[in-house]
Amino acid sequence: MNDRTNLVDRITGHRRMRRNRKAEWTRRLVQENRLTVDDLIWPIFIVPGSGIVQPIDAMPGVNRMSVDKAVEAVKQAADLGIPAVATFPNIDMALRDEAGSNSLAPDNLINQATRAIKKAVPNIGVITDVALDPFTSHGHDGILRDGEIVNDETVEAIARAAVIQANAGSDIIAPSEMMDGRIGAIREALDASGHQNVGIMSYATKFASAFYGPYREAIGTGGLLKGDKKTYYIDPANGTEAIRDAALDVEEGADMLMVKPGLAYLDICWRMKEAFGLPVFAYQVSGEYTQIKAAAANGWIDGERVMLETLLAFKRAGCDGILSYFAVEAAKILAKR
Ligand code: PBG
Repeated sequence: MNDRTNLVDRITGHRRMRRNRKAEWTRRLVQENRLTVDDLIWPIFIVPGSGIVQPIDAMPGVNRMSVDKAVEAVKQAADLGIPAVATFPNIDMALRDEAGSNSLAPDNLINQATRAIKKAVPNIGVITDVALDPFTSHGHDGILRDGEIVNDETVEAIARAAVIQANAGSDIIAPSEMMDGRIGAIREALDASGHQNVGIMSYATKFASAFYGPYREAIGTGGLLKGDKKTYYIDPANGTEAIRDAALDVEEGADMLMVKPGLAYLDICWRMKEAFGLPVFAYQVSGEYTQIKAAAANGWIDGERVMLETLLAFKRAGCDGILSYFAVEAAKILAKR
C-alpha cells in the first residue's frame, strides 16, 4: 500500500489538534467552558426621584434609573434568569459629607432601592456595597481625616451600614472599600443583629485602576475625588500581595471573593480560585464595558462577539460568575441559543 504519511504526521507523532476542531459538532463536544445566564450579575445605578431613565454619556446603553424604573428593569432581568443585581446609588450632592453619614440612614437611596426590589421581585438576589464613596463629599471610600482615609473608624461605619442594608433586605453585602479587617467586622455585626443568612462577597482584590473612570461619572464622584485611592486599593503591579489580601478575607469569613477590574486581572482570578476554592467573581468594570462599546460604535470590532468572548474568558480563568453591565444584553443573546 502506498504510504500516505505526511511530514507533519512525523513531526507531531501523528497527533493533530485540528481533528477535534473539524466541525461544529466536535467543537461543541469538546467545549470546556460555557457562559450561561446563571453566571451574570447586573450592576445598576440608582438616582433619586421617579420616572427617571437617564443615559450615562461615558457608558452607552447604561442608564441611571430612579427606584421605580429600576424595579421594572430588575423585573426584566429576573425574567431573563439573571440571578442577582448589584446596586450603586447616585446620592444627592446635598446629602454628601466628609464622613459619608447618609450611608447610615435606614431610608437612604440604596436602602430604598433594596426594599422596592425585594418587594416587587423577591426571586432576584440583591447585592449591596457598603463603601462610602457615593456618600462622601470627597469621593473617597472611607472617612477622611487630616488627609488620611482612616481605617478603623471607616470599618466601624461600614459594619453599621452593612446591618442597615441587611435590615432593608440586602442578600449579600459586598464591601468594596478595601479597609483592613472589614470582612470580620461586617460578619460579626451581621451575626450580632441576626443576619446569619446574609452573605459577604468580598471585593477581595480591588486594584487602583484607571478602568473605573466611567463609573465615577455614573455616580457623580469623578469631579469630587481629591488625590487617588492608592493608600487602600492594591497596586496593579502586585499579584502576590493581592492573594495575601484575599487570604485574610477568607479567614475573616468571606463567602465569595471578587476580582476587580476583570480582564486585565485574569491571572488573579485563576490564582484566587486555585488558592481558596471559594466562589470567585470578576467585575468587568465600567472602563472595560466602555472600551468595547466605543470600539463597536466605530465599527472597529464586532461588539457582540467581543462581549461574549470576554465573558467566556472569565469562566475559563476560573470565575464562577461575572458582574457586568452587559448582563442583560448577554442574557438576551444566551436565551436565543
Ligand atoms: C468604589 C467603587 C468603584 C467602582 C464601584 N465602586 C471604584 C472607584 O470609583 O474607585 C467601580 C465600578 C466600575 O468601574 O464599574 N467603592
